[in-house]
Amino acid sequence: MNQNRKTPVVPQADLAAQAQLCHRIAEYWQAQGRVPVAYVETYGCQQNEADSQQIQGMLARCGYVFGQSAQGADLVVFNTCAIREHAEQRVFGNLGALTHTKRNHPAQKILVCGCMAGRPEVVQRLRKSYPHVDGVFSTSHLWQLPELLWQLLSTGKRVFFTQDEPGAIAEGLPMRRDNPLKAWVSVMYGCNNFCSYCIVPYVRGRERSREPEDILAECRQLVAQGYRDITLLGQNVNAYGKDLGRGIDFADLLTRIGEIPGDFLIRFMTSHPKDAGPKLFAAMASSPKIAKHLHLPVQCGSDRVLKAMNRHYDREKYLSLVACARAYMPDLVLTSDIIVGFPGETREEFDQTLSLLEQVRYDALFTFIFSPRPGTPAANMPDPVSRAEKNQWFDQLCALQNRISEEKHRAYVGKRLRVLVDGREEGCLTARTQGGRLVRLPDHPALIGRFVQVEITGSTTWSLTGKPVE
Ligand code: SAH
Ligand code: SF4
Ligand code: F3S
Repeated sequence: MNQNRKTPVVPQADLAAQAQLCHRIAEYWQAQGRVPVAYVETYGCQQNEADSQQIQGMLARCGYVFGQSAQGADLVVFNTCAIREHAEQRVFGNLGALTHTKRNHPAQKILVCGCMAGRPEVVQRLRKSYPHVDGVFSTSHLWQLPELLWQLLSTGKRVFFTQDEPGAIAEGLPMRRDNPLKAWVSVMYGCNNFCSYCIVPYVRGRERSREPEDILAECRQLVAQGYRDITLLGQNVNAYGKDLGRGIDFADLLTRIGEIPGDFLIRFMTSHPKDAGPKLFAAMASSPKIAKHLHLPVQCGSDRVLKAMNRHYDREKYLSLVACARAYMPDLVLTSDIIVGFPGETREEFDQTLSLLEQVRYDALFTFIFSPRPGTPAANMPDPVSRAEKNQWFDQLCALQNRISEEKHRAYVGKRLRVLVDGREEGCLTARTQGGRLVRLPDHPALIGRFVQVEITGSTTWSLTGKPVE
């Protein structure tokens, strides 16, 4: 037991009690002589994908099998995202449509969880206007899903596990992974950064890290099971370990995972620029198992806007960080997130984002138009630029990045790289480079799941084509 850790760990006895309830639920369905079907719909980021795999793991333990749609399912779970207004509107729209599936199957139970369930206004709206929703639980209550489900099945009454809690670490929850090659591993939860536009710290609580031994054991097991591509997850992985009080940081963790024997690749996201540095880059450079890919969201290119965003770095610091990372790893693939139209951003400031793109030359970008999130500081800032104008800026940003991506992809032609063949699509194999670039190869099913050496023969804005050279 680590006596120094600041964040609580869910006691094993409590987790055992949840597992016990899974067995009661399984018995409940056996007594009815049927195998219950669950449908889990996941919105948002990889963190939610990973959470959904735990949800499915717990449901499998309760005897559920999984269907492809809400129609006819005994249990529907919406694992939601609150990052932008549009994400929430989609969930509300799709929840509305569930009144029909429930009419066809009145015993159907509907649960809402994830980041929206961490917003009191949303919970209020679900209570009042969505009476067909039977249960709601926020991310800090995820491990209590069996308890919620048992209460619901045994009483028939709606259940809300949405009290605001700091959040704890629950180790050893069952997980149902659907891809045999790629696995998500959460190394920490929550966020302490409070970027002024962002809802995440409000809905996912404070930063809390898993103990390194637990992460290492999970990774060792994944490698033994044949997983080839492991992505470590956290909102700001560079803050890993700060709450553990053991002197271990993310670079140390990466190095230790890289020492696990076997043929696999480690990725991670997301790195906040304020906490990334030479120690991380050195760790990446020194292990062949760590992908030479850095997702380093910059958000914008103007110092004034960066300050208003509460990002704790300026353009110059960011650029020197990129230069440092590239000095350690000349072939580094670099990706980023950009927000267009932060409140008060001027055309001149937006131009600084464009010029930053030209300077950094990212391999790929995730681009977003600012969306006000109630309760965050940016939601109350004056925002005079029209939506139409922001759309125009957004299109310019995408056009510039497409040009850069295309140029960068063209430079791959003729090169030899090692890729992981991960699937088949439209008569060809799909593979990923270390940097996550998509490569299409001639069909050859025996290669699926293997790392192969390929020569790149063609490129587009979005993908590469190649042929095996072994
Ligand atoms: N923790 C990660 C990102 C989490 S959210 C990080 O710090 O980089 C993913 C991306 O969504 C963010 O990087 C940001 O670009 C975008 N985003 C977050 N809040 C937003 C908002 N209110 N409007 C538009 N985009 C937003
Ligand atoms: Fe949001 Fe900033 Fe935390 Fe990322 S670091 S989750 S953008 S508050
Ligand atoms: Fe992810 Fe959306 Fe929550 S981006 S952390 S699922 S708000």
